[in-house]
Parts: sequence; structure tokens; C-alpha cells
Amino acid sequence: GTPASKSEAMVTLTIDGFKITVPEGTSVMRAAMETGIAIPKLCSTDMVDAFGSCRLCLVEIEGRRGTPASCTTPVADGMVVSTQTDQLKTLRRGVMELYISDHPLDCLTCAANGDCELQDMAGAVGLRDVRYGYDGGNHMKTRDGVGEVNARYLPKDESNPYFTYDPSKCIVCSRCVRACEEVQGTFALTIEGRGFESRVSPGSFGDDFLGSECVSCGACVQACPTATLQEKSIIDIGQPEHSLVTTCAYCGVGCS
Ligand code: FES
Repeated sequence: GTPASKSEAMVTLTIDGFKITVPEGTSVMRAAMETGIAIPKLCSTDMVDAFGSCRLCLVEIEGRRGTPASCTTPVADGMVVSTQTDQLKTLRRGVMELYISDHPLDCLTCAANGDCELQDMAGAVGLRDVRYGYDGGNHMKTRDGVGEVNARYLPKDESNPYFTYDPSKCIVCSRCVRACEEVQGTFALTIEGRGFESRVSPGSFGDDFLGSECVSCGACVQACPTATLQEKSIIDIGQPEHSLVTTCAYCGVGCS
């Protein structure tokens, strides 16, 4: 969800009919999660501050207009939240449809198959049809066949010894950029361009990860919800059957 609040003041609200008391400053998404309600999401994670860019986690709040993002909306005393209305389900399916229309559909042979949040969210929102065409390569095509070049379909960057960067699978959620800054304290990554042109870029010191300020800490790879940033060992030998999370004492940052 989103990082936990450290506030000692408590707030009581209602989510889908359940009353819950949480620390002030908690996001609606996190409060829902603590009630056992999983709101679909792509750009938020416990690791880094919420950003509110993917628009998948929309909710309805009594007395408020529109459908705010639950990851960036803090709880308030007496708030009444709905997370599963028909309107929200339709909106979320529409958002996911757009993401999937701009994503390769090679899930069966993708290194992240079975461990991909984009795949999980397509299932969670019940996406069954995509009305906008993807030609599997260098262009986005509308249904009438008119296409335009998509700048994200650039070659894979395999320069880092431990992981690869595949721009074609990037949903520009910026989790990697925020993890680099907030977890590692390095500013190796940035988002450049706008709209279909936008892409994650490894800084200004080189065109690839090896030439950038990246220190190979792996925080960006851990934060990535797709196979855009993928460990080379997983590409080579597949997903591990078991995994163990430890804290590395090497640099003292405390990342896992
Ligand atoms: Fe809230 Fe992406 S998870 S906007």
C-alpha cells in the first residue's frame, strides 16, 4: 500500500461498511488494507511515498466530488469510503485497458510471469477485452490503423551486471525513480519526455545504467511492478521457489 504513519493521534472512519481506527496521516488505501480490503493499485508501494500517478486506486468518499486516489488521500475522522461501486469498477477497468493496450502481451514467456503486478491487476479488475490495438513492436495503432511512434520502444539496456532495463514494459509508475531517491538516496534515475514519449532514464552521465550514477543497490528492481527492471539471474534461471529477505549491512542504508 503506502508507508505507515508514525502519528500517535488516532482517526476513526468507515470503509465499505467496516469501522476502523488508524493513526492520523494514514492513507485511505492503507486503512482499507488494514481492514482486509485490497484496493487495486500500480504506482504505490510500502517502500516509497505515494505519488498518485496510475489512477487505479480511485475511491468514492461521501460528501466529496469525484473519485480521489486512495493512496494520496489521508484518512479523516468520520470519513465514509466506498471502494467497490459499479462506477469505480468501470473506471478501473478503463485505466487497466489503457495500460495493457500499451504493453507487450508476451506474459507466458516473460521473466516476471506469475510475479507481475500489472498481470495481477488486470485480473483483479476483471479486464477481459482491450479495444485499442497494440502491434507488438514499435508503434501504437488505433483501430483505424493510424499509428504513431512510441518512444519507449527502445532497445533493452543490459549494461548493468545484475539487472536489465526493458523500456517496452515500463508503465512509467516512477516507483524505481522514487526508490532510488528515497531508499538509496541516489538520484540516478529520472523520467524524461511527456505522454507516449515519457520514459525512465538513467540520469545524465550516460545513456545506460552502467554509465549512470547507479550503485547497483537493487532498490529500483525491487520496486518495479513489471519486468521492466529485472534481475539477470531470474531471466536466466526463472523465479525462485523460495526467497529470503535479509538486510544488507554493506553500505549502512538498511535496504533489504
Ligand atoms: Fe494510487 Fe496509483 S496506486 S494512483
